Amino acid sequence: VRRVAVLTSGGDAPGMNAAIRAVVRTATHHGIEVVGVRRGFSGLHRGNLALIGPRDVANTIQRGGTVLLTARSKTWRTPEGRALGAGHLRAWGVDGLIVIGGDGSFHGAHALQEEHGIPVIGVPGTIDNDLYGTDHTIGYFTAVETALDAVDKLRDTGASHERIFVIEVMGRHAGHIALEVAVAGGAEEVFIPEDPKPVDGVVQIVKDSVAKGKASSIIIVAEGFPGGAQGVADAIEAGTGLETRVSILGHIQRGGSPVSSDRVLASRLGEAAVYALMDGVRGVMVGRENGAVVHTPLHETWEKRKDVSRDLYRCAKTLSV
Ligand code: F6P
Repeated sequence: VRRVAVLTSGGDAPGMNAAIRAVVRTATHHGIEVVGVRRGFSGLHRGNLALIGPRDVANTIQRGGTVLLTARSKTWRTPEGRALGAGHLRAWGVDGLIVIGGDGSFHGAHALQEEHGIPVIGVPGTIDNDLYGTDHTIGYFTAVETALDAVDKLRDTGASHERIFVIEVMGRHAGHIALEVAVAGGAEEVFIPEDPKPVDGVVQIVKDSVAKGKASSIIIVAEGFPGGAQGVADAIEAGTGLETRVSILGHIQRGGSPVSSDRVLASRLGEAAVYALMDGVRGVMVGRENGAVVHTPLHETWEKRKDVSRDLYRCAKTLSV
């Protein structure tokens, strides 16, 4: 392997820069050149490629977002778009492509390898933590901290006004962020897509809370739960008459300086991605499970579903008495 390319794709996640840096520096350490692709697959089919070296990634490990920029590309979903991208990679003499992103990005990477034989390695970069084949994804830990900080602040105002706060967190179709934040934030109830229970149950929970002397309540809802936070809030107001406010945290959860766990995970997986290509491995995502690097075929990362921690879900319930 003499030259590898790297790109970030899909929603940005804190720690992506640490992953890019790890790829560049591991490759450099082993005498391999790195081509940086700007704007993900969108930049790849347009030919936004340039050589990058270790100094180009200096002072980036602590920065949120991605210095390579990212995009969600419609053109890449077409065979013509992928053929253009493959042409650019060949013209640059690239021996393998490292894709830092989520399942949509891995679909695109998989198709590129299938159709054009270019070896690809995926690095899990998404706040959603929804990829099979790794205990955690890069960006998840930071997103949880950011959401938790917001929950703590909303609790202050909720308690002062004796209101119910229904807070919606990101996660796409998964409830990992919601569940973690619910337990860490001491929420009364949590709604996740993995358990699409009827919302009317929350009415009794809130009534019971009031009867137990709780003046305010925090309810966490994952964006993927049917009806979202607004649906839950409407049910509470209709069923209890209590003053309820909705707060949708949104994209703030994707920003900010990555916490140490994300930086270290990104450093390890960026390194592992280069080693995989050097070892002739292709078509896998590098992840970490139980403290060790593991390789999972790209298609399994989206075909197999990573469940939320059922223990933690039970814990959330138990602790809300
Ligand atoms: O996948 C990351 C994520 O932030 C999801 O949690 C969310 O559903 C989605 O991306 C939002 O995407 P966009 O930035 O395109 O609005």
